Amino acid sequence: MRYAHIVGWGKSAPERILTNEDISTFVDTSDTWIRERSGIGQRHLAGSRDSTASLAIAAALEALDVANISPSQVGLIIVATSTPDYAFPSTACQVQDALGADSAGAFDLSAACSGFVYGLSMASDAIKAGSIEYALVIGAEVMTRVLDWKDRGTCVLFGDGAGAVVLQSSDQPGGVLSTILRADGSGGDMLFIRNNYREQPANIAEYDGASAGALPKIEDGKNIAPGYMYMNGREVFRFGVRILAGATREIIAKSGWEVDQIDLLIPHQANIRILESASKSLALPMERFYHNIEHYGNTSAASIPMAICDAVASGRLRPNHKVVMVGFGGGLTWAAAALEWGTPRVLNRANRTMNRVRLGLANVRSRARRVLRRVEDRVFGAIDVSAEPLAAPSPNGRNGAVTEAEPEVRR
Ligand SMILES: CC(C)(COP(=O)(O)OP(=O)(O)OC[C@H]1O[C@@H](n2cnc3c(N)ncnc32)[C@H](O)[C@@H]1OP(=O)(O)O)[C@@H](O)C(=O)NCCC(=O)NCCS
Repeated sequence: MRYAHIVGWGKSAPERILTNEDISTFVDTSDTWIRERSGIGQRHLAGSRDSTASLAIAAALEALDVANISPSQVGLIIVATSTPDYAFPSTACQVQDALGADSAGAFDLSAACSGFVYGLSMASDAIKAGSIEYALVIGAEVMTRVLDWKDRGTCVLFGDGAGAVVLQSSDQPGGVLSTILRADGSGGDMLFIRNNYREQPANIAEYDGASAGALPKIEDGKNIAPGYMYMNGREVFRFGVRILAGATREIIAKSGWEVDQIDLLIPHQANIRILESASKSLALPMERFYHNIEHYGNTSAASIPMAICDAVASGRLRPNHKVVMVGFGGGLTWAAAALEWGTPRVLNRANRTMNRVRLGLANVRSRARRVLRRVEDRVFGAIDVSAEPLAAPSPNGRNGAVTEAEPEVRR
């Protein structure tokens, strides 16, 4: 029988910190209100050089160091994110390329703040089925890029960052024991980020370059511009309270545990009051709930893996601990996992150095492949196509045929 153990973990947060006081200089709020109503003291803010991919890569590299493996051993990379840099290529492909993980499949997973636990479930099932030996599961977000900084109800709550874990196949009992995944799409209007796609012309026949400036208005009445987040705070709060306690009960029942056997509950870091309410409902003391929301705010899919790292570093998460993780958020989605924490690996400095060298080599190889593709294009590119290429419409009215060099995918 195969088991899936977490053997590596890493996190990354942008350097710049935005305190509650900073926010109170541009919206009508205060440090006291934010701390009392959410438990948040500060959050990290992505700068111009940060992206979802760059944060994910940094967290993944740290996780590989702890796991003491090389990127080429990884068979699957899942990045849970609601704020990918591109619709495609996926953030996971950007991570694969940067690390030089040449034996890995890679995809992004969209389940909002539940995404990391969804990914953990997918990856551990693949390991238990014997399909792969190692998987990288990452939660990465630049939430501050989708916030309306004039909306005090949401802009105070979110932050940026990434967390990653390495899962390893083993015949030693333990690791991820059971998971549950749930969704209720009827609550999709409580919390959402709209894409731009709905604003675009439906098809070529309807497209008229002159109408590009008069694209359809958002009809939900909430005036949320595409690419920005909408949240009904009160309803989402009630949902969080109900799900955190309910999903915990369900996962421990599935695992054959009692509530008081939980050594550490690592919930999605949405609001400290949601945790306090679940603590009462479950009769599980707050000391068994891990929280670091005071330092990072709500980092969506990144919050649980970042909390894992901090819990290990502070000695709160120790070998043989029975651990429950619960994610919940947009979709609506929620997910829980029960696991027995394994023996931590000792950091191997030689492998750490080698992984930095491998990172450099991966970069060289990636560039070489791009150059090679261009050379191939020059040599073999003059393929005679008798039919005119279909000109795809684009919102700026430019004919879809590529006339200039397309930009490189940037991390
Ligand atoms: C957003 C949230 C913190 C608001 O807390 P709340 O106690 O529900 O506050 P309310 O929405 O009832 O608002 C109470 C008052 O505070 C005001 N308020 C809202 N945000 C404020 C802020 N940042 N600063 C000061 N006052 C604020 C409201 O305008 C309202 O004022 P009013 O009574 O004059 O109308 C809370 O609802 C929440 O955390 N929801 C869940 C969010 C979440 O977890 N999202 C992610 C899930 S994955």
